[in-house]
Amino acid sequence: MRIIAIANQKGGCGKTTTAINFSACLAQAKKNVLLIDLDPQGHATLGLNIKHQDVDKSMYHVLTPQSGKKVRLDEIILPISQNFDLAPADILLSAIEQELSGKPEREAKLYQAISLMVTKKTYDYIVIDCPPSLGLLTFNALRVSGEVIAPVETGFFSVHGVSKLLEIVDVIGKRLKCDIAVKALITLFDRRTKFSQEIKDDIYNHFSGQVFKSIINTNVRLKEAASYGMPVIAYDKRCRGSEDYMALAKEVIRKYDWTKPETVTETVGGPQQSKSGILFTYSSTEAGSVQIAGDFNNWAADQKDKLETTKKGVWAKVYNLRPGRYRYKFIVDGQWVTDPNNPQTEADEIGNLNSLLEIK
Ligand SMILES: Nc1ncnc2c1ncn2[C@@H]1O[C@H](COP(=O)(O)OP(=O)(O)OP(=O)(O)O)[C@@H](O)[C@H]1O
Ligand SMILES: [Mg+2]
Repeated sequence: MRIIAIANQKGGCGKTTTAINFSACLAQAKKNVLLIDLDPQGHATLGLNIKHQDVDKSMYHVLTPQSGKKVRLDEIILPISQNFDLAPADILLSAIEQELSGKPEREAKLYQAISLMVTKKTYDYIVIDCPPSLGLLTFNALRVSGEVIAPVETGFFSVHGVSKLLEIVDVIGKRLKCDIAVKALITLFDRRTKFSQEIKDDIYNHFSGQVFKSIINTNVRLKEAASYGMPVIAYDKRCRGSEDYMALAKEVIRKYDWTKPETVTETVGGPQQSKSGILFTYSSTEAGSVQIAGDFNNWAADQKDKLETTKKGVWAKVYNLRPGRYRYKFIVDGQWVTDPNNPQTEADEIGNLNSLLEIK
């Protein structure tokens, strides 16, 4: 599972438009997608035609520390279309920063919520629409994401301010000893103006070349689709906006290599695709040895199946696996256990539960 935050503190640069349309295009490409609306403005929710009165429980109830109100993430998920689900937001979410202030691990609430999610289906992608600020909500999104798409519009002052976002990503990355890959997405681009071209060069400089090849042009169909509460591919499949967001989705699907798996953090949701293969991780500060056994090593773990601790408490190992279905278990100090980060399990012939990994 890949978790991607759409973040930039600048308002109106196309975060929500990107979150909705990028997610819809991933779903169209047969990926299972959950879009989390993390903005109290609830624009992603509204933009998918979910009205305020239809939202019973929102991300507020997932993140609140008040035990009487708290619910699990999977309890608020609404189906939007095939392969596409939404975790909605509403204005209540604006109270969260205050409620969580001074609370321990307040930046890890979304991380915990995703880890504790109970769903039968596994998501290939979780996309998070961030608010236009660098407060606790955006921190929660960055804390759980391996990748960040920063939409930058080609207007005045557009690159102004993104340095702060890059700085914060850097701080979080250092604190968690992991790399969060940030890439800029050029939005609201007007090919006809020299000015847009100049800003494009500015963006390249600012992001040291970490910029998507796909560019989102200004297209009125995107605005119209949003006003009808639809992703643009459902509104007008052939318009420029649909083509641009489809190209972005394909670029992201193709480019596993813009994540940096060499430096490992825990992987919420179980094993993940990395540049060098499938990355398995297990967290424990107490364990003396962690091995892995599964269909891919005939359930016979030996020396080479030992996981290494890449940072304190996170054990990791990469296997090169072909597409297919694999059952596996960790062996922690001799005890066989299922992968606590992976909700997918399957019972074997004698009823023992194994973790399940499907590689498409
Ligand atoms: N490529 C585009 N072409 C035309 N209009 C666009 C495009 N991208 C975004 N817009 C319009 O620009 C406005 C701002 O876009 P959007 O809401 O996606 O920005 P945002 O970054 O999420 O804003 P906020 O910071 O308030 O959350 C919206 O009216 C949207 O319909
Ligand atoms: Mg928005």
